[in-house]
Amino acid sequence: MTASDADPALSDRLFDLRWQRGRPDLSDALGRLYHTPGLLDRVHALLRRHWDERPDDLRDLDLVRDLNPGWFLGEQMVGYVFYTDRFCGALSDLPTRIPYLHSLGVTYVHLMPCLKPRPGDSDGGYAVMDYRQIDPKLGTMAEFEEVCRQMRGAGMSVCLDLVLNHTAKEHAWAVAARAGDAEHQALYRMYDTDEVPKAYEETLLEVFPNQAPGNFTYYGDLGKWVWTTFNEFQWDLNWENPEVFLRILDTILWLANRGVEVFRLDAVAFMWKRLGTQCQNLPEVHDILQAIAASTRIACPAVIHKAEAIVGAKDLVPYLGSGRHTGRVSNLAYHNNLMVQFWSSLASGDTRLMTHVLGHYFPQAFRRACWGTYIRCHDDIGWAISEEDAERFPPMTGPGHRGFLANFYNGTHPGTFARGFDFQSNPETGDRRTCGSFASLAGLEAALLHDDPAAVSAAVDRILLGHALIASFGGVPLLYMGDEIGLLNDLSYLDDPALAHDARWAHRPPMDWRRVALAEAGEPPWSWLLSGVRHLMAVRKSTPELASHVPTTVLEQPNPALFALRRPADMRPVTCVFNFTEEYQGTPAEVLGIDPNEAHDELISVAPMAFPDGQVIMPPWGRAWLRRVADS
Ligand code: GLC
Repeated sequence: MTASDADPALSDRLFDLRWQRGRPDLSDALGRLYHTPGLLDRVHALLRRHWDERPDDLRDLDLVRDLNPGWFLGEQMVGYVFYTDRFCGALSDLPTRIPYLHSLGVTYVHLMPCLKPRPGDSDGGYAVMDYRQIDPKLGTMAEFEEVCRQMRGAGMSVCLDLVLNHTAKEHAWAVAARAGDAEHQALYRMYDTDEVPKAYEETLLEVFPNQAPGNFTYYGDLGKWVWTTFNEFQWDLNWENPEVFLRILDTILWLANRGVEVFRLDAVAFMWKRLGTQCQNLPEVHDILQAIAASTRIACPAVIHKAEAIVGAKDLVPYLGSGRHTGRVSNLAYHNNLMVQFWSSLASGDTRLMTHVLGHYFPQAFRRACWGTYIRCHDDIGWAISEEDAERFPPMTGPGHRGFLANFYNGTHPGTFARGFDFQSNPETGDRRTCGSFASLAGLEAALLHDDPAAVSAAVDRILLGHALIASFGGVPLLYMGDEIGLLNDLSYLDDPALAHDARWAHRPPMDWRRVALAEAGEPPWSWLLSGVRHLMAVRKSTPELASHVPTTVLEQPNPALFALRRPADMRPVTCVFNFTEEYQGTPAEVLGIDPNEAHDELISVAPMAFPDGQVIMPPWGRAWLRRVADS
């Protein structure tokens, strides 16, 4: 029995009130995207149907979150991101790992793609052939629902990937399209000749220039060119067709009713295409995101969305809402610029570019939205640093600095501590991206190889520096599985023909539970890492000034080895300082807005902070969160 059976009048009323609340945003966005008579009525019917089917426990969560719509902005939020099979085996085994997740303070679990992928190479699960089935190697949809319920009971929201830009070519829609069905062909972007594809190619970039050059694929049996931005087997959906919107919305609402609380909307930047552009970040993308967000706020308001748009600084902000989309699009978006700038400063020991980019392009806070902050994830690092920004710091240039970073992290730059790999080198553009695990890129692999205790401890400090940054920057820190125990690059993927061409698998190692046991038994350096990350998250969770709704002010200060920011909550801001070099570094407390004559605590070390000669002094790779001691 659902709540609508128990109290149909209340159920109707809730739906109607939410429809009235959401309709303006919905019709506004749909009106700009489509000119299809009756579309809003069809969306209304779809929302109503899924609302009627929504289980009681989720309706209860809807109410809780309607009353507390900023629930995901709190300082208690900590995310953990993992491949289910590599973390625990099957889906049904996940609850056995709840105690471990609790030990890290986790409140949000991103189960990497777990919908049924195409067989063989599936781009790590991002080529989905059935959105309503779980990958059989992980379990069943019924088990998934049960896992969502159990995780929710344990205080964790389940985040699921939903690929919006494309389906696998084995998806039923694509199969029907390939068989010649016109209605299904209209769901994709297909062309009889190469004339239009060639015109688009003039301005398109290539995502996988090595393994999948070009953006279109010709199928002889079909006699058509198909738009395939990513791999040949990933067919781009045609979002100009409102039927695509309706079908994907239906899928989202159905999955929401299974217990998904956060949708990671994959590759959203690419959803809309316009001739003569790079077909990325077009305004219509934000209208689609607004229409999706408005819809779920009506039929399943417990749900939020995270946009995956790995784009340059200027293009990133609209994913969290700007202009007419303010407060109306995704609730979370990856802060890939923070991630890139962390690695840039770590390599150069110079934070000026980081301070400029992070202080210049981004608002200090968003409406009903915040960042997902991270240092590593399952993807490569794209060096999103513009010419314009680099050239502010001569002799730095865009290509020069990007090339330096690629060489630093692939381990060829003289004296580098990093051990990583190039990814998708593009000789035409000179673009090179980088793969490697947090620990290997931060120097742990080389340090262990050389059996060099000082280098090991420096690498641990660099890893904790990154975790301290994402825990305090503002946003939900997303811990990537295994970084908390320093997992190194794993080259076993080279033995699997379906994976060998994709170096991203180097930083997707299986969880090492033996190492967790060693860490918990106090064995260094693993214990330093695990206890260090646990401690940082615990301090974050007891520091309300670090909540995501508190603005983040990036501070200008004279020492280019240090990065500093302030979270100006009420009368007692928290000032966070990070040292990106291996030397002691200082900066005047006053330029950070700190009165050195007032007593301050350093929250991470839980100790009073001294300001010798009025300076904030930071040890090598040091991180400090400073707060004035409250007046008694
Ligand atoms: C996202 C995923 C990435 C995948 C791509 C295509 O960027 O994070 O792993 O290759 O989408 O689906």
